[in-house]
Formats: sequence, C-alpha cells, structure tokens
Amino acid sequence: MDKDSIIRAYGFYAPFYDFIFGSWVNQGRKKAVEKIDQSPGNRILELGVGTGYSIPLYSTEVKVMGIDISTEMLNVARKRFPREKYPQVEGFLEMDAQELDFPDNSFDSVIAMYVASVVPDPMRMMQEMSRVCVPGGTVLVLNHFASSKGFLRGVENFFSPFSKRLGFKPDFSLPHFLEMTPIEVEDILPVNLGGYWKLIHFRNAEPEMNPNGQNGSSIGPQPA
Ligand SMILES: C[S@@+](CC[C@H](N)C(=O)[O-])C[C@H]1O[C@@H](n2cnc3c(N)ncnc32)[C@H](O)[C@@H]1O
Repeated sequence: MDKDSIIRAYGFYAPFYDFIFGSWVNQGRKKAVEKIDQSPGNRILELGVGTGYSIPLYSTEVKVMGIDISTEMLNVARKRFPREKYPQVEGFLEMDAQELDFPDNSFDSVIAMYVASVVPDPMRMMQEMSRVCVPGGTVLVLNHFASSKGFLRGVENFFSPFSKRLGFKPDFSLPHFLEMTPIEVEDILPVNLGGYWKLIHFRNAEPEMNPNGQNGSSIGPQPA
C-alpha cells in the first residue's frame, strides 16, 4: 500500500467512517486508553487519529496531540472535537506517522489504533513511536492481525489483493510484526469481537546507565 492510495481511501471514507468503524470496535479503543498513564499534564500522541473517535475517552487533565495523513479525516475530528469544548485536545495535525515532526522524548505515551496495518512501513512507524516517547513510557498498538488458519484466514486471503482499495492489509501478521518491532512487549490483550483484534502494550526502553549510576537521558534540566 502506498501513501497516495491511503489518502484516497480515507478521503472517501471520512464522511461515513464512524458508521462503519465506530462503536462496534470501541471496546478496543477504551481498553487501550485505559492503559495510558493519564496523570494531569501528561502529553499523549495518537497516530492516525482519524475522525477523533477516541477523544472523549481521554481525561480532560491530559493533552492529546492527534496526527493523520488524511485532511478529510482530520477535518471531521477538528469540527467534532474543538479545543474549546474538549480541553484534552492539544491539536490535530497533518503528518506522516512514519516521519514525525516532533523532537525525541516529546510524549509520555504514544498510541496507534487501527493504523499499523494501514501505513506502508509499520516498522518505521514503530521506530518513530519509540523515538518521540519518553524512555520508560508507554507505546500502544491496537490492530487486527491475520488468523493462522480456518475460515477467517480464507477471508483474509481473499481480500488481501484489494488492500489498496480497502485502505488496510487484511493479512497483517502478528509474529512478523513483533519480530521486526524494536520495542519490548509488556503484554498482549485480545479485544473486540472474539478477541480478533490485539492490544499490544510496549514499554519504551529506559536509557542506559552511565558509570555514575545516572541515566543518559536528555530530558529535564541539565547541569550548567
Ligand atoms: C482505520 S483508520 C483508524 C482511525 C482511528 N485511529 C480510529 O480508531 O478509528 C486509519 C487511519 O490512519 C491514517 N493513516 C494511514 N496512514 C497514515 C500515516 N502514514 N500517517 C498518519 N496517519 C495515517 C488514515 O488516514 C486513517 O485516518
């Protein structure tokens, strides 16, 4: 799948996206947001925020930055969840999840819901998630993954050639994804209908200790 076909697909879906991919997969979104440390003032980055369906799930005490490559999806989010009414919204920006325009260690948690099987290069997205998340912070990925066998496997194989039109890869493999992901997995929770979707909880690497027992983090005040 390439960027242009994704932008085209979600430009088409935007006006009715919430009807086809809204409430019936919201259990997964709720479980994902529950895993986030929502201490007051914490900054959260949501990749592929789409129409902003998850926004009401966040505490009004945190700040959520939502990014997406689809202008049409973002416009729905901006209209529905203005900052004046939803104080948890820090902003909605047009940006590629594979090339984030944020400095290292910018967010306490980084989350991507139903996005990993959409982006052309999921590993690049994971590297970026890790880079912009603070060391020790939470990185969450919620996605469907291909079945290993049975009827569903047949359905996934059937739809696989239509990925570009559908706007996602039906045969996205969990073992392959985990093998290539550069972040340590904390736990995996099956969610939504029959657990077909998985919520993967990663713990971003802590900085290495130097011989003085101090970490090499560049966040926070530095000695003069
Ligand atoms: C299936 S929708 C999920 C939307 C939302 N996260 C939700 O829970 O409904 C996938 C979203 O990822 C966005 N997307 C796809 N590729 C992207 C990329 N490279 N960078 C940022 N967003 C991307 C799409 O535009 C779309 O809004």
